Amino acid sequence: MYRIQLPKVILWIGLSGFWPSAFPLATPDDWQSLNETIGGRLQAGVLVSQPCFLVVNGQHVSVNQTACAEVQQNYHSPLFRVSNYGAWMQPQWETCQRTGEQCLLDSTTPTDPLAWTAYDCSQGSISPYYIEVQNVSDVQVAFRFTSTTGVPLSIKNTGHDYKGRAGAKGSLALWISYNATFTPEGCTTSYNAMTLGAGVGWQDAYQFADKHNVTIVCGYHQTVGSSGGWVMGGGHSILSPNYGLGIDRVLQFKIVTPDGIYRTANDRENPDLFWALRGGGGGTFGIVMETTHRVEPAVTLQVADITFNATSTNMLSWLEVVTNHSLEWGRDGWGGHIAGPSLIHVTPKLSLSEALESMAPAIEYALSQNGTAVIETLTWWRFFQKYVTGAQAAVGTGNILGTRLMPISLFETTEGRAQIMNVLSIILDYANQYIVAGTPLLYDYKNGSTSATPAWRNSLWLMSFHMVINFNDTLAVKQQKYRLVTNVTQHMRDISPGSGAYFNEGDVYEPNHETSYWGPNYPQLVQVKEKYDPEHLLDCWQCVGWRGADDSRYSCYV
Ligand SMILES: Cc1cc2nc3c(=O)[nH]c(=O)nc-3n(C[C@H](O)[C@H](O)[C@H](O)COP(=O)(O)OP(=O)(O)OC[C@H]3O[C@@H](n4cnc5c(N)ncnc54)[C@H](O)[C@@H]3O)c2cc1C
Ligand SMILES: *[C@@H]1O[C@H](CO)[C@@H](O)[C@H](O)[C@H]1NC(C)=O
Ligand SMILES: *[C@@H]1O[C@H](CO)[C@@H](O)[C@H](O)[C@H]1NC(C)=O
Ligand SMILES: *[C@@H]1O[C@H](CO)[C@@H](O)[C@H](O)[C@H]1NC(C)=O
Ligand SMILES: *[C@@H]1O[C@H](CO)[C@@H](O)[C@H](O)[C@H]1NC(C)=O
Ligand SMILES: *[C@@H]1O[C@H](CO)[C@@H](O)[C@H](O)[C@H]1NC(C)=O
Ligand SMILES: *[C@@H]1O[C@H](CO)[C@@H](O)[C@H](O)[C@H]1NC(C)=O
Ligand SMILES: *[C@@H]1O[C@H](CO)[C@@H](O)[C@H](O)[C@H]1NC(C)=O
Ligand SMILES: *[C@@H]1O[C@H](CO)[C@@H](O)[C@H](O)[C@H]1NC(C)=O
Ligand SMILES: *[C@@H]1O[C@H](CO)[C@@H](O)[C@H](O)[C@H]1NC(C)=O
Ligand SMILES: *[C@@H]1O[C@H](CO)[C@@H](O)[C@H](O)[C@H]1NC(C)=O
Ligand SMILES: *[C@@H]1O[C@H](CO)[C@@H](O)[C@H](O)[C@H]1NC(C)=O
Repeated sequence: MYRIQLPKVILWIGLSGFWPSAFPLATPDDWQSLNETIGGRLQAGVLVSQPCFLVVNGQHVSVNQTACAEVQQNYHSPLFRVSNYGAWMQPQWETCQRTGEQCLLDSTTPTDPLAWTAYDCSQGSISPYYIEVQNVSDVQVAFRFTSTTGVPLSIKNTGHDYKGRAGAKGSLALWISYNATFTPEGCTTSYNAMTLGAGVGWQDAYQFADKHNVTIVCGYHQTVGSSGGWVMGGGHSILSPNYGLGIDRVLQFKIVTPDGIYRTANDRENPDLFWALRGGGGGTFGIVMETTHRVEPAVTLQVADITFNATSTNMLSWLEVVTNHSLEWGRDGWGGHIAGPSLIHVTPKLSLSEALESMAPAIEYALSQNGTAVIETLTWWRFFQKYVTGAQAAVGTGNILGTRLMPISLFETTEGRAQIMNVLSIILDYANQYIVAGTPLLYDYKNGSTSATPAWRNSLWLMSFHMVINFNDTLAVKQQKYRLVTNVTQHMRDISPGSGAYFNEGDVYEPNHETSYWGPNYPQLVQVKEKYDPEHLLDCWQCVGWRGADDSRYSCYV
């Protein structure tokens, strides 16, 4: 599958039903005048699965079979989800998890009628109103509105966030919608950079770069945004071992800060903001309208695709091979993902025969299990099309993550590797491991140039654990799953004191999140937050300057 371009499903819902309760802070006149200010472009947030339901926000409606079938067929399609304001990649964030207000299909079988017979459809965490951002003045209008009315503001780009930060129940939302028809600037041989509008996703950025014979460093998926949460929160790529994180490669942001000023942030202009935006996280300092990324001359990669069928007995010895050899693989320039019984890695540093030799232990193991191993040479774009679109993380299924940056030092000793194996065996009791070999191992980092935790610079893996959350899980079950993720992640924390976690892929209930995500950079980040957003018009869960879970914005967290 390459691209499915489906028409946007836009259904209008009656406003009167939830106007007063959803917006105690703004009057109907306020909304109408907001709508007039932006030329009638205020839109109603429609839940993606709504066409399948008979009761929507308390009102009886008729089911639209055509639209419902479309949602069912595309429930797991990132390209479908990214084109809908009312769809999140992890559907639990469309709901109000604490109250159970939801409008979900059964992600294991989207045609399962239980989803719409046992439940009504309700607005959940999808904003009743949103503005599809066209330009800077839309953002300025939204900041003014939120400042005068007190209605919270949320910012959604692609809706990939694992921690629910792209929405807030009852908020006015700014949607930076997916835009495949962008015109990057500055991509010439004399100036090796690409400027991307905020709506540009990775797949389109890669394709454009390929056409211009350069390689841009973004992540392992089609539709995550190049200029949003990913790059502000750190941004790992399987090319990061050689070329650095997203935050290492961005040269400039253009951003509307909460005072309404459109600013440029780079090494010379607003350098404090530039530093904070490189690791301090999305949704915190302003709305980024575009980013400029350094690009590399087109890279040629050796690709390793190694896989076998897991049994009840062969996973631990596989993980032992992987744990024993990951550090030398990292030094050979390999970056990639190790998900369950499969490894997909790339390196620009080796020749084909060197790559075969370097990966020999993994190849031998997979073959001993009657698996398969392919080592081949591809450009980044060929690699992306052939491997990533089929192996990228699933969407359309509720997911809870916990991660930890695993220090290089653990891989250097027998004892350290045994500790890693012990944690991996605990993880395997619940789910397959997911290991990202995407830390900037070989990258020549200038100390202090970015604000994400320095633990990235001393780590080899981002290790992660995840649990699936179902459409019909009760509140008690959801709470238990989140707790379990925190507990299993704790085993990773226990063997890596002083390390950290990835802000974008952290435990929703990360203990001491300030230290985990930012380490010694946190106090300075708070100063930048207070300077540019003293009124806290932008706040999100465990973000810089977070004032705790009590805010009504967080009423849907369990
Ligand atoms: C399937 C999948 C694959 C992934 N793969 C990778 C990967 O390979 N590497 C990696 O590092 N991460 C990966 N991630 C994690 C990803 O980095 C985060 O989900 C990230 O938050 C997505 O950012 P977004 O802007 O696309 O999404 P959103 O969910 O829309 O936004 C995320 C956060 O950023 C804020 N934000 C978005 N746009 C702006 C803007 N223009 N200005 C200000 N704030 C903004 C939002 O308010 C929200 O707080 C993946 C996630 C998923 C679901
Ligand atoms: C905003 O105004 C336009 C034009 O008057 C109207 O069509 C639209 O329904 C309004 N939006 C909302 C959310 O009411
Ligand atoms: C039902 O959905 C289809 C496809 O999304 C749309 O074209 C059609 O107008 C909808 N019908 C009604 C009655 O809303
Ligand atoms: C922003 O976009 C809107 C809608 O396209 C348009 O009406 C408005 O004039 C634009 N404003 C600026 C400053 O370009
Ligand atoms: C997409 O981006 C281009 C600028 O790169 C802009 O001209 C166009 O209006 C955008 N389209 C949408 C739908 O936002
Ligand atoms: C890219 O490289 C190819 C082959 O070397 C060349 O034909 C083409 O003109 C180049 N394209 C650009 C945009 O530089
Ligand atoms: C991993 O390394 C340890 C020694 O550190 C060794 O005992 C073990 O046999 C190795 N396992 C594999 C599968 O390579
Ligand atoms: C691999 O296949 C051979 C031949 O079918 C079989 O005998 C052997 O048991 C298999 N090995 C494993 C580990 O599955
Ligand atoms: C896994 O097993 C299935 C069914 O026996 C087989 O078709 C497939 O090729 C195997 N995959 C690998 C990677 O060994
Ligand atoms: C980076 O700089 C900080 C602050 O100046 C210092 O404490 C730290 O030791 C430096 N780290 C490295 C690896 O040089
Ligand atoms: C949830 O739904 C699935 C699929 O319909 C069903 O098998 C399961 O029993 C349900 N679980 C609960 C707790 O209702
Ligand atoms: C998590 O750990 C705590 C403390 O060890 C324990 O009380 C709790 O039962 C555990 N919860 C789950 C869901 O594993």
